Amino acid sequence: MDNAKLILGDQEYEFPVIKGSEDEVGIDFTKLRSRTGAISFDPGYGNTGACTSEITYIDGENGILRYRGYPIEQIAESASFVEVCYLLIYGHLPDEKELTNFQNQLTRHTLIHEDMKKFFEGYPPATHPMAIMSAMLVSLSAFYPESDDPDIINLNIIRLLAKAKTLAAFAYKKSIGQPYIYPRNDLSYTGDFLHMMFAVPPEPYHVSPVLEKALNLLLILHADHEQNCSTSTVRMVGSSQANLFASIGAGVCALWGPLHGGANQAVIDMLEMIRKDGGDYKKYMGLAKDKESGFRLMGFGHRVYKNFDPRATILKETAKSVLNELGVHDPLLEIAQELENIALSDDYFVQRNLYPNVDFYSGIIYRAMGIPTNMFTVIFALGRLPGWIAQWKEMREDPSTRINRPRQIYTGATARDYVPVQKR
Ligand code: CMC
Repeated sequence: MDNAKLILGDQEYEFPVIKGSEDEVGIDFTKLRSRTGAISFDPGYGNTGACTSEITYIDGENGILRYRGYPIEQIAESASFVEVCYLLIYGHLPDEKELTNFQNQLTRHTLIHEDMKKFFEGYPPATHPMAIMSAMLVSLSAFYPESDDPDIINLNIIRLLAKAKTLAAFAYKKSIGQPYIYPRNDLSYTGDFLHMMFAVPPEPYHVSPVLEKALNLLLILHADHEQNCSTSTVRMVGSSQANLFASIGAGVCALWGPLHGGANQAVIDMLEMIRKDGGDYKKYMGLAKDKESGFRLMGFGHRVYKNFDPRATILKETAKSVLNELGVHDPLLEIAQELENIALSDDYFVQRNLYPNVDFYSGIIYRAMGIPTNMFTVIFALGRLPGWIAQWKEMREDPSTRINRPRQIYTGATARDYVPVQKR
């Protein structure tokens, strides 16, 4: 199958077919408009391949997710988040020397410029940390200007990964009015973030290995997910040759929405609402099926996964074990399990292939860890950083990249003459 035939009017056209390494098939329509005058129409881009990529493979029908070929289950079981960052960004698993060097670099670049602290002061206390996070990431470009020099680009990648967790923790401290906690070089990536979030001077803070391990897993499971809304935004913005910090800041904004990364916060808000309403989850199942209600079961459904989300499978088990290890009893976990049980056997959900996604159980783990609800999506962003960076880098290094510029089918008024206001 080398070509695809298209009949338009009385003309027949042939278009090349491209195949991925997992036999995914795409019809190459790059010359569609110049040859036929027509465009492809695909709102929501559910059938449109915007690039080729070597980073992440998803088979939504079979619940498969692989980073650079490695199954998510194996990575989640054994790798560290820093190792996964290296894998996604540089394309191979680091050897011992590479990992030590990378880890040292990430440790040495965690401080933010002292002047940036003034930015935090200007925000009202109730500001959502995602607003602060996106603005701060873009602001890094003021301190670390862009360059075409690959070494500087790489240094900016390190800076971004290292400083993002400091910025995230400062955003949280700002929201609760506590002093900022500076990074510590003796802690792991995740341990340092927990320390900056939860240390309250003068009390000493000891990083709990249970929290450190849970956060490592959560960040890994969020690390990349090919051409989703925020990653496509990063590529879209980056395609105009906007700098790394600006492109990633745009990705954070895209992630914020409740249909994307904001879903983890929305799930907890929903479960909380059900609990306060007497735990009547059947009523909310009914509402989710009623299109008029405007209510959706948050944490359910996915554009790509049509069988199960392998990340959700891992997180469901993790939620139980983390709550167990921390000795936390959360009534929301029970409501979540009841909702899942009903949905999995309900015709509406079965027919539409709606299964729990990564956000359904992650919020319950964050809650048990003591992370406030409005920080959930910030942590998703921290996890997704290496994926966004890898995708941005891949796009910038691909000589075939063109500025992203979709077309439209115009449905507005046809040409008409302007009428001066007195005569209207
Ligand atoms: N609850 C109830 N009905 C739903 C839901 C839901 N959560 N999700 C989809 N549907 C229905 C939808 O009404 C439609 O029904 P019909 O065919 O009768 O019109 C059908 O299922 C297909 O839905 P869609 O909106 O066309 O699907 P999509 O691929 O455009 O959207 C989605 C995918 C994830 C945005 C959607 O399933 C949703 O809104 N889920 C809730 C929000 C959520 O959990 N988002 C996190 C996604 S995973 C993390 C990430 O990658 O960001």
